[in-house]
Amino acid sequence: MNIMVIGGGGREHTLAWKLAQSPKCTQLYAVPGNPGMAEIATCIEGISITDNAALVKTAQEHAIDLVVVGPEVPLTNGVVDAMTAAGIKAFGPTKAAAELEGSKSFSKGIMRKYGIPTARYEVFRDAATARRYIAEQGAPIVVKADGLAAGKGVVVAMTIEEAYHAIDEIMEDKAFGQAGARVVIEEFMAGEEASLLAFTDGKTVRPMISSQDHKRAYDGDEGPNTGGMGTYAPAPVMTPAMVERATKEILEPAVAAMAKEGRPYKGCLYAGLMITAEGPKVVEFNARFGDPETQVVLPLLEGDLVDIMLACVDGTLDQADIAWSDGAAVCVVLASGGYPKSYQKGYPITGIADARAAGCQVFHAGTAIKDGQLVNNGGRVLDVVATAPTIHAAVDKAYAGIARVQFQDSFYRKDIAHRALAREQ
Ligand code: AMP
Ligand code: GLY
Repeated sequence: MNIMVIGGGGREHTLAWKLAQSPKCTQLYAVPGNPGMAEIATCIEGISITDNAALVKTAQEHAIDLVVVGPEVPLTNGVVDAMTAAGIKAFGPTKAAAELEGSKSFSKGIMRKYGIPTARYEVFRDAATARRYIAEQGAPIVVKADGLAAGKGVVVAMTIEEAYHAIDEIMEDKAFGQAGARVVIEEFMAGEEASLLAFTDGKTVRPMISSQDHKRAYDGDEGPNTGGMGTYAPAPVMTPAMVERATKEILEPAVAAMAKEGRPYKGCLYAGLMITAEGPKVVEFNARFGDPETQVVLPLLEGDLVDIMLACVDGTLDQADIAWSDGAAVCVVLASGGYPKSYQKGYPITGIADARAAGCQVFHAGTAIKDGQLVNNGGRVLDVVATAPTIHAAVDKAYAGIARVQFQDSFYRKDIAHRALAREQ
């Protein structure tokens, strides 16, 4: 089969790496891909991932049998609908189903209507009313821009003033443009966070191994929010009983709800969870694989990802062969100095082969080739991933690997998986 991956970050490199292992995969393409993906796929540049007509044309030109969509933007832009209309199989939700991530008010509405556990909330279109609600509710309280804001549209306000400030930024200064035309204000949930991703064909739900992301830039979970500085799997807070509960109380009802709403959801459904004293509750749904959750989940998948994805598209997931390794995986992100604020690009990167020789996978997240040399080209640059029988051993291996990779001003967190390590001990 000819397979085309849309996207060019660490998540897409990991997807491509796992797809390439399938005996069914004869030719792999990536739009636009990245220098790491170029080692295993043909990268096609110069096509916008939001230009559905151009993406369909490219898929037709290369006789693509399966399209795998990484990021949320092409999903909410309807690329799966466009491929399907052209008779090309595509893994991922339709535009209508991707609303589950694309609009927080839509997603919260589904949860309210179908009794899926989540934080209490209200939606506001007007700043003055939003401020009144905040004054009534008190702090801590959480303010979220309704639309896609690349993970940055959420403020967990510990004081009322912080919450007012978030309203100013989102609604008055329009820091996230149209995404902030509405805000969702919700109850603060205390607990430990975990991510539970699932494959679904619109009827059957098959959870993946659980994982946990470190969203803050610096050690001790301090500093500004980022796209994710590291992950590990499985998340010890997600015991088999908790995974079962989250599947029965959250993932399965969500997929059933979307079918009932006439927006059948197929692809990967990502539940960001808070494990509260009352049980698992939804922080957010995403319509795609997590980044960098994918980097620790897929290395533990024992099964053919092409077969599983085809089963999701074809509606035969109940028969798919999916198993998870008993081991653990850890991903540490090597970032550009200054990220998530401004940073310099174009510094030469060395040591990737050494990290691989130390037994790690190195996925490219933000790299480019400049004058024949691999350089940093984004905030998150490389994902160093190790698998081992325990989290502890995987942490040691990942850090031994990342120590060998270098570029000017690069940094990484030294405490990925610290909560899991504390529990293992
Ligand atoms: P989101 O983009 O919705 O995942 O939110 C980003 C981060 O904000 C989450 O990973 C949580 O750490 C935090 N967060 C979001 N909603 C809540 C909530 N209701 N209570 C506590 N923390 C939250
Ligand atoms: N790592 C968080 C996300 O993919 O949304």
